[in-house]
Amino acid sequence: MIKIIMNGCNGKMGQVISRLVSEDDKCEIAAGFDINGEMKNNYPVFTDPFGYTGAADVVIDFSHPDSLEGILDYCKSRKLPIIVCTTGLSNVQKNIMEAAAGEIPVFFSANMSLGINLLISLAKQAARLLGDSFDIEIEERHHNQKIDAPSGTALAIADGISEEMPGGAEYVYDRHTSRRKRKKTEIGIHAIRGGTIVGDHTVIFAGNDEVIELKHSAASKEVFAAGAIKAAKFMAGKEPGMYNMNHLISSFAE
Ligand SMILES: NC(=O)c1ccc[n+]([C@@H]2O[C@H](COP(=O)([O-])OP(=O)(O)OC[C@H]3O[C@@H](n4cnc5c(N)ncnc54)[C@H](O)[C@@H]3O)[C@@H](O)[C@H]2O)c1
Repeated sequence: MIKIIMNGCNGKMGQVISRLVSEDDKCEIAAGFDINGEMKNNYPVFTDPFGYTGAADVVIDFSHPDSLEGILDYCKSRKLPIIVCTTGLSNVQKNIMEAAAGEIPVFFSANMSLGINLLISLAKQAARLLGDSFDIEIEERHHNQKIDAPSGTALAIADGISEEMPGGAEYVYDRHTSRRKRKKTEIGIHAIRGGTIVGDHTVIFAGNDEVIELKHSAASKEVFAAGAIKAAKFMAGKEPGMYNMNHLISSFAE
C-alpha cells in the first residue's frame, strides 16, 4: 500500500484526489498538509509539514507556489519523492525545484492529464511537418477563479512547439501593445477566463486557405487527479532526478 501525503489537501484538487484514493486499494492518504488545517477526510491535517513524522512513500502537491520551498525542504529532510502539480511557479522556483532533484525524485508537469501530453506530442509533430508555412497560435480557456495566465499548460505546449522551430519561437501575449504584423517565428498565446470551464487548450496552425486545429478539453478535474495518482505510484521508490509525463507514459509500455 503506497502511503501518500497530500499537500493542499483541502483545496479542490486535494479533495478530488482524496476521493479517488479512498476508492483505490493500492494507495492511501497518510496525512494532509494545508494552511487551512480543517480535517475534511479520514486522515490528519497539518498546517506545518514538519508536524508529521509518520510513514509516507510520496508527496502529491496541488497547493500554491508559496508552499513550494517548504514542501521541498520537508521532502529532502525525509528523502521523499514529490509530484509537483502546482502551476504559476516563477523561474526562480523552477530552479529551486530542479536543484532539489539532486537529492530527491521530483516529478513536475503543468498538466497531469495524459490527453494533454498526447496533444503536445501531436503539436510538435505538426510543427515539424508544417515548418514555417503555417502561423501557430494557442488559445486556452479556464474558469473565472484561475489566477495565473496564460496557463502553465499553454506554455508547456508552446515550449514543445518551440523546440521544433529552428532558433526557437518568440511568445507574444498582448497583441494590443504593439501595432505590427505577426512574424513567422511567433507563437501567439491567448487566455480566456470565464464560468466553470475546467480547461480547454487549442493549437491553431493557420496556413494559406487552410487551418488545422488540435484541441483538448477537460470535462472534470478527475483527469488531472487520476494522472497525479498514477505518477505517485510510478515515483514511489525512484532514484533522485527530474521526472515528467514522458517518463510516466513510457513506463506503460514496459
Ligand atoms: N498540473 C495540473 O494538471 C493541474 C491541474 C489542476 C490544478 N493545478 C494547479 O494546482 C494548484 C491547486 O489547484 P486547486 O484548484 O486545488 O486550488 P485551490 O485553491 O482549490 O486549493 C489550493 C489549496 O492549497 C492550500 N494552500 C494555499 N497556500 C498554501 C501553502 N502555502 N501551504 C499549504 N497549502 C496551501 C489552500 O488552503 C487550498 O486548500 C493550482 O496551482 C492549480 O493551477 C494543476
